[in-house]
Amino acid sequence: MHVSNEDIVAEIFAGLSYPQKQISSRFFYNDTGSDLFEEITRLPEYYPTRTENSIILKVASRIMSHENFTQIVELGSGDCSKISILLDALPSEKLRGVRYIPVDVSRAAILKSSELLAIKHPGIEIHGILADFMKHFDLIPGEGKKLICFFGSTLGNLTGKQETSFLSNLKALMKPGDQLLIGMDMVKNKKILEDAYNDQQGITAAFNKNILNVVNHIAKTNFRPDEFEHYAFYNAFDSRIEMHLRALLDVEVSSPHLAGKIDIKKGETIHTENSHKYTPSYIQQMTESIGLRIKGIYTDANNWFSLVHTH
Ligand code: AVJ
Repeated sequence: MHVSNEDIVAEIFAGLSYPQKQISSRFFYNDTGSDLFEEITRLPEYYPTRTENSIILKVASRIMSHENFTQIVELGSGDCSKISILLDALPSEKLRGVRYIPVDVSRAAILKSSELLAIKHPGIEIHGILADFMKHFDLIPGEGKKLICFFGSTLGNLTGKQETSFLSNLKALMKPGDQLLIGMDMVKNKKILEDAYNDQQGITAAFNKNILNVVNHIAKTNFRPDEFEHYAFYNAFDSRIEMHLRALLDVEVSSPHLAGKIDIKKGETIHTENSHKYTPSYIQQMTESIGLRIKGIYTDANNWFSLVHTH
């Protein structure tokens, strides 16, 4: 299905018309947003990336050495630094039989990361796919023995319903022998969680506000990011970090694509992201309900992050 710009603009205005205004976290990632996210991953407070990397490093040879995967698919591949840790565990003679398939919506990310990966792991075949992996399951190749990787706790951005349908779709294209690795951020102390989304340098705040620049570009709106403040907190009832933008004054949003105006009252928020945090029992139940069998749940010394290995 082709999604037109018109549909996207309509989706944005619909979100801004709900009692709780919202903008999808998909819209964070223009060039500036992707750069800011990369900066976030290096912040002292933002533990998920470095914790997940340390887990991948610890278990890479366990995952890779006994299996002969011919296709390694990475959903939302980004800068491909994580897959590189896995591939380091493969002896070079095995690397020659492997095709790496990064799937991402950013052409620049796929090109740049493929180039780097080809240099770091000579002999590997790379076949990038430019697609929204949430929608285009049909583009994931069927042949060969596959390892599908979904790192970064991106799964946590989905609603429960979306999570179930997404994982069921993945399960449906897995043949016997295929395996799946999913990164999940775990429930933990509230202060640690909230600090990770309220860094001292204000990079997360800049990342959050940048979504308004993206929306201005797509929907020709007149948002001024400096009229909003970053607001992120842990919602324990729903086990998720919520990010919002809170209006510092009454704001009137207009656009040539919009008949009237959108009124945002001082203090009102636009919900921009959910980042779900997981528990071992939730992971057990969820994977079981989808028919995914757990081979292992790998974690760090603090149990802050989990790499869930299923087949
Ligand atoms: C890329 C979705 C995993 O939820 O932690 C980082 C995005 N938002 N800081 C996350 C994000 C604010 C990140 N994910």
